[in-house]
Amino acid sequence: STFCMRFPTVQMANVTRLCGTKGIVTVNGEYPGPALLAREGDRVVVRVTNRVAHNVTLHWHGIRQLRSGWADGPAYVTQCPIQTGQSYVYDFTVTGQRGTLWWHAHISWLRATVYGAIVILPKHGVPYPFPPPHEEVPVVLGEWWRADTEAVVRQALRTGGAPNISDAFTINGLPGPLYNCSAKDTFKLKVEPGKTYMLRLVNAALNDELFFSVANHTLTVVEVDAVYVKPFTVKTLIISPGQTTNVLLTAKPFYPKANFYMLAAPYSTIRPGTFDNTTVAGILEYQKPGSPSMSSFDKDLPLFKPVLPRFNDTGFVTNFTSKLRSLATPQYPAAVPRSVDKRFFFTVGLGTLPCPANTTCQGPTNKTQFAAAMNNVSLVLPSTALLQSHFTGVSRGVYGSNFPVTPLLKFNYTGAPPNNTNVAKGTKLLVLPFNASVELVMQDTSILGFESHPLHLHGFNFFVVGQGFGNYDAVNDPAKFNLVDPVERNTVGVPAGGWVAIRFLADNPGVWFMHCHLEVHTTWGLRMAWLVLDGSLPNQKLLPPPADLPKC
Ligand code: C2O
Repeated sequence: STFCMRFPTVQMANVTRLCGTKGIVTVNGEYPGPALLAREGDRVVVRVTNRVAHNVTLHWHGIRQLRSGWADGPAYVTQCPIQTGQSYVYDFTVTGQRGTLWWHAHISWLRATVYGAIVILPKHGVPYPFPPPHEEVPVVLGEWWRADTEAVVRQALRTGGAPNISDAFTINGLPGPLYNCSAKDTFKLKVEPGKTYMLRLVNAALNDELFFSVANHTLTVVEVDAVYVKPFTVKTLIISPGQTTNVLLTAKPFYPKANFYMLAAPYSTIRPGTFDNTTVAGILEYQKPGSPSMSSFDKDLPLFKPVLPRFNDTGFVTNFTSKLRSLATPQYPAAVPRSVDKRFFFTVGLGTLPCPANTTCQGPTNKTQFAAAMNNVSLVLPSTALLQSHFTGVSRGVYGSNFPVTPLLKFNYTGAPPNNTNVAKGTKLLVLPFNASVELVMQDTSILGFESHPLHLHGFNFFVVGQGFGNYDAVNDPAKFNLVDPVERNTVGVPAGGWVAIRFLADNPGVWFMHCHLEVHTTWGLRMAWLVLDGSLPNQKLLPPPADLPKC
């Protein structure tokens, strides 16, 4: 069947939060944007029209886009942006995926307000591998600035410094009662005693990994990034920007005569004051006994609050992520590549660039600006789209096929900062033959910033086969890799001061972006792209570009 999200229009809307009104870029005037509802196997056709003064693209985060890279959406990677007054049809098929994903603008910082959930139901007649919930509720976590976010990023780029931090976090666009004049803007989850609810959590925040907890209730994790996991129960979970997590919440068997806060607040290993450490609250409310419908709720009840981990509790994060395991059953096997054709080691982290002449920079020193890189290369996006120049064979002057397969600068990643923290700028792709099985170890460099980086790979799911702290040990660490039931996902945290190892099969021809999903780090250059070549069979080739593909 074909699913259509009815002709979404990118348009301005005035939205009031934290006592201030500002014009924001939206889809169809909604903030957050509408959820896209599809079923596994559906073809999705979305004609997007741009009616704002910004260039726009939309990305379907986590959708595999098998052979349909033209519909993936990152600006200047797979397409030129949709210019003001123009339209583009995103046309793709949801293959082998069901669960929660999300869509967002993929140009500059527009995703701050241009985002929404993607709900993919299983095929007709295929049940969930857990008891069916009474109701399913998208819970999309976001981040709000009083200022215009495009102005925030422009200012940062001009000074080479860090952008201003956000003013609030949101649940489904609502900051909630812990912020000034926001009590009326509170997300409420209304439940009936004894029923089970599936929360489809999305972290759409720009720059913060978030803890999430509901007072006096447990959360059973059943899926991440649209892949089922072995269920496990926690009081608090951690979710990084880009990631999605489905949890089951079972309401108390009897009317509890209380309401319960759900809270989300950041996990960060950098200095307080350099990130937004505020807390968003929503409220879990129980239907009053004897009331005929879900319309009667008690206002004046005690309100319980969960206790979140400390902002820098890396131990909690490590413990949580180590519990994530694939189902690895005959019906939902974990197709981990057993052998490896291509083995890579990337350093991931912050660095510097010299301040341009006649400018005062606000980077780590006033002679430097902030930068970030993988293997010391900070990806510069071209003024045309990488996928298009690959397809037409005119790569000269657009990109090189020489992304360094080992770091350009050697140092002890957890030792004293090196004298040279400069990154190199470049537009270099890493080329993979079709169906290569890839192992990639990503090591946090911890220079300038001891910080975890949620790395997102477009076009693929990967298996997280190992992680650790300190320097990766290529001799002893691989023996500990989990090749049996590692979690399969599209976004993984490279731990602060540590490393993560992933494996994936390069079975999707095209140009695929990989970047830190902390938008500030992407802006500083923590991004690269893979070029996966066509296979020899007709069904192993990138499809030709659609006729309406935007031009730069
Ligand atoms: Cu969710 Cu490249 O993005």
